[in-house]
Amino acid sequence: MSFNGYRDLIEKGDTVVLYLTINQIYSIQAEPKTTNKKGNLIENVFQTPYGALKCEDLIGKPYGSKITLSKGWGYILQPTPELWTITLPHRTQIIYTPDISMIILQLEIVPGSTVIESGTGSGSLSHALIRAVKPHGHLHTFDFHEVRANTAREEFKSHGLEEYVSVQHRDVCENGFGEHLKNKANSIFLDLPHPWLAIPHAVGSLKESGGRLCSFSPCIEQVQKSCLVLSKLGFQEIETIEVLQTQYNVQSRNLPVLNLDFVKTEKEEGKVEKKEKETIKTVTCIPPNSLPGHTGYLTFATLPPIWARTLQFNINDDDCEN
Ligand SMILES: C[S@@+](CC[C@H](N)C(=O)[O-])C[C@H]1O[C@@H](n2cnc3c(N)ncnc32)[C@H](O)[C@@H]1O
Repeated sequence: MSFNGYRDLIEKGDTVVLYLTINQIYSIQAEPKTTNKKGNLIENVFQTPYGALKCEDLIGKPYGSKITLSKGWGYILQPTPELWTITLPHRTQIIYTPDISMIILQLEIVPGSTVIESGTGSGSLSHALIRAVKPHGHLHTFDFHEVRANTAREEFKSHGLEEYVSVQHRDVCENGFGEHLKNKANSIFLDLPHPWLAIPHAVGSLKESGGRLCSFSPCIEQVQKSCLVLSKLGFQEIETIEVLQTQYNVQSRNLPVLNLDFVKTEKEEGKVEKKEKETIKTVTCIPPNSLPGHTGYLTFATLPPIWARTLQFNINDDDCEN
């Protein structure tokens, strides 16, 4: 239940984040027992570089407290979508927090929003979407991989989030998002290999008052095909961006002071006046030596209200080829 609101003490079954160092953060279950590969019930012990942790010992401890391991210590934290993203079990490629924050901002997702997502994948984005739509909104997430859809449903349930999310096993490119979501969604997010095949279905699922769509694609060819379909369907404000996080190093440095008198003397009197270079200690930003690598393109678009649409709904088959 630990994702659904804050509380002081860890309860049995909670997902807990164990923080050792900035690069050693893990999600663990506060369950006394676990099943091994042979299917036998055994004691749940989590091994870390600083020794073993009996998961049973977590129960009843305050969130945020220090915990002793057999060869060191760590902190036990309340899970958040951000911590889940960096500790979750990967079943697919996932979307990371810099992109997630841009998606939530650009899709204008607020408490009460109805949001459609496909594919669900490992549920990294889903957890952040659920937190953004809570407590009155809902996330409808789709994946055509049955095991992934079922695993995500179980995971949401064990995190106490089931009332805010519906998981469906469905091929959204073939079958769309279903009659039950006709004109229901405020926004739609696609992380699919062939998003241009799902975009025509998105038109009927967005509200009659219009809405926002985002498609995440690693390759520019996918972006080109999607943009073509979006514009043919009457989407507007089509924009593709890439979120690249750049870390600047803030340091105190001695910088030379610009001597304007020196420049004037040299120009006007034709002689060079020798002066000692003055420096001043100042706080400055050092740009990084290397830039972050490519993650993916985020294409955003707005579907105008139904009365304002002067569009042709028939798109060429060529535009929807794989
Ligand atoms: C890269 S993963 C999504 C990761 C997810 N955004 C996350 O942050 O964890 C893409 C998912 O889309 C699903 N998928 C691919 N084509 C699909 C389709 N036509 N309909 C529904 N799901 C599809 C795949 O099974 C896969 O799980």
